[in-house]
Amino acid sequence: MSKPGSNNLATRSVQIGVGRDEQTGGISFPIYPSATYRHPGVGQSTGYDYTRSGNPTRDVLEEAFAQLEGGARGLAFSSGMAALTTLFLHFSSGDHLVVSEDLYGGTYRVLDQVFGKFGLSASYVDTTDSAAVAAALTPQTRALLVETPGNPLLGVADIRALAALCQERKLLLIVDNTFLTPALQRPLELGADLVIHSATKYLGGHSDLCAGALIAKDEALGERLYFLQNSTGAIPSPQDCWLLIRSLKTLPLRMRQHCSGAQQVAEWLVRQPQVERVYYPGLPEHPGHALTREQADGVGGMLSFRLSSPQLAEQVLERLQLISFAESLGGVESLMTLPAVQTHGDIPEPERLRLGICNSLLRLSVGLEEPNDLIADLQQALRG
Ligand SMILES: Cc1ncc(COP(=O)(O)O)c(C=O)c1O
Repeated sequence: MSKPGSNNLATRSVQIGVGRDEQTGGISFPIYPSATYRHPGVGQSTGYDYTRSGNPTRDVLEEAFAQLEGGARGLAFSSGMAALTTLFLHFSSGDHLVVSEDLYGGTYRVLDQVFGKFGLSASYVDTTDSAAVAAALTPQTRALLVETPGNPLLGVADIRALAALCQERKLLLIVDNTFLTPALQRPLELGADLVIHSATKYLGGHSDLCAGALIAKDEALGERLYFLQNSTGAIPSPQDCWLLIRSLKTLPLRMRQHCSGAQQVAEWLVRQPQVERVYYPGLPEHPGHALTREQADGVGGMLSFRLSSPQLAEQVLERLQLISFAESLGGVESLMTLPAVQTHGDIPEPERLRLGICNSLLRLSVGLEEPNDLIADLQQALRG
């Protein structure tokens, strides 16, 4: 039975799992740690046989992923990289992918150093330029993988335009929606075929678990990806599934606050003389400002900024007190990274510098602290 208000994202998030435990009526759906399940008889099943193939807690989470992103099938993984690896196993030797050049370094590393060995090739292009994407397609291209906004430069790709191109050329459009989450951007509604997440980030939201997600628009692709998930086995534990279910209930609320905090910090950073450039699509001068407003319900909590020297960047990282100098993003706590050394360290230096990922560039994941406290921390770190 559908519940009243079930189309509202906040309502749907809060209601994940509520009413699903029919035996006890538990509001919080339980953790099923069992690795295996008793068969009622030969050739019979309760619907669960072995936890890699299916687990009740994971089922609730996977259905929530599908519902929030508007897909036919959601699948949960032990990390974002596990989700990406499973996805890349869908392709064959000789296939070619076109991928955003403003991309998480780990995605580049697995394509370049792992899948490259098996004959899956990739070209990296500026996916904010739909004409450049069209020019990079070859007869062997099978899919376009887009991070938007990009990481760490926050470039914004036109999902609708890229979806039209992919449809015309019969390619899969895959969007890494880690930065905005379905609370702000739903790529499947804009024409994408598949969404991937590092659920370690905003979906988990508390820097206390590692997980990934794939959400397929249609059932056939979802079934194929389920086959790969079950065959290769990179599933999350039932405990982490439960923690993610709990986190998703506050996702829309958290994302709203991340957006307003990041906007405030970005507007302050722009006015600082030591800051050469701020990358945040919420600023009117950002090239993706208007497009973000068209295709997303918010700008998100991620921003990057370039300082006047690498020495100053180092000083800031050493002097921050409230904001932690740490990898990752999307948690309630603010985190600062030096992408050139951390998240993007595996991208060859000339390529990194061409993109603008230099040693003066810092990336900030704006958490849920009072924005004025974050600004005060940045101010003292910049001043030294
Ligand atoms: C945009 C993006 N996609 C994928 C990943 C990989 O996810 P995980 O670290 O959960 O394996 C990351 C990790 O930082 C990321 O930022």
